[in-house]
Amino acid sequence: MPKLYLAPMAGITDQVYRRLCFEQGCDCATTEMVSAQGYLTAPPERNAYRFLLARFPEEGPLAVQIFGSEPGFMARAAARLTDLGLFSSVDINMGCPAQKVVGGQSGSALMKDPALAARIVYGVKRATTLPVTVKMRLGWDAEHKNAVPFARLLEQSGADLLTVHGRTRAQQYAGKADWDAIGEVKRAVTIPVIANGDIVDGSSALDALRVTGCDGLAIGRGALGNPWIFSQIKAAMAGAPYTPPPFSQVIDTAMRQAREMAAWKGERSALLEMRKHFAWYTAGRRSSAQVRTKVNLASSFREVEDLLRTLDH
Ligand SMILES: Cc1cc2nc3c(=O)[nH]c(=O)nc-3n(C[C@H](O)[C@H](O)[C@H](O)COP(=O)(O)O)c2cc1C
Repeated sequence: MPKLYLAPMAGITDQVYRRLCFEQGCDCATTEMVSAQGYLTAPPERNAYRFLLARFPEEGPLAVQIFGSEPGFMARAAARLTDLGLFSSVDINMGCPAQKVVGGQSGSALMKDPALAARIVYGVKRATTLPVTVKMRLGWDAEHKNAVPFARLLEQSGADLLTVHGRTRAQQYAGKADWDAIGEVKRAVTIPVIANGDIVDGSSALDALRVTGCDGLAIGRGALGNPWIFSQIKAAMAGAPYTPPPFSQVIDTAMRQAREMAAWKGERSALLEMRKHFAWYTAGRRSSAQVRTKVNLASSFREVEDLLRTLDH
């Protein structure tokens, strides 16, 4: 059975959210991205890394994702993160399109410098006993789609698995993910390839598997406010029927996430961080826009829950 991955999403795929996804059938997840250089040079008490690297013991297999462009920092960060004993693999970010990441030649900018990307994979592989995986795109832009030779080079450099987002850096998150191009990468290498981009329900998951021939699927935005997407896709793969949860259960889950986040980071931080999640959980409900505005002004989760319950009719 193809494996289902929760794609890494900065600011979203923390331990609380990941646990909800694992409960619904997600097989593997990834932390939010961690700067290799930042991690190595931060004072040990720095909260940011404590939060970024936290994991619940009952989560399933978890990759830690690092980004950077300096092979030495990447290798040392991988070694230190491996020593924490928390992670089952090390994932290297070669897909992030954000200016602040590519400006430092990291993320998807590495697709423009295959030799450097290969040196990073090689060095990280030697620095850790864990499997080394890479998350990449189709290339920098439409004129530079080098995913196939790039993937082959990474495989030769020691990568154990590749996740391919079917867009170029120039596309960011716009347009449609090109699953045929992911299939070309899959056929060009012998290591497992995970397809990513625009998998939003059971039928798109089956289509993506058919078109790409990949070994698994990574789901990002389709899982926002929707950890049930994993059970939905598993049902589709098994040819079994799927019934979405009633909205009362959606609210229960949102509130559980909120309480767990509050227990972890305090209610004030959790209220701010949960705003986007509440918006995703309630997207598409009648009157949800007005309720969301009030939710964003609420000063306690009790208030938030009362507001959300008004949408359950
Ligand atoms: C808010 C957000 C944050 C993301 N953060 C990361 C990240 O930290 N590392 C990474 O490799 N990809 C990141 N991505 C990209 C996703 O992992 C994924 O490749 C992309 O969203 C396409 O998949 P989808 O169509 O299923 O969303 C992020 C995407 C979004 C929307």
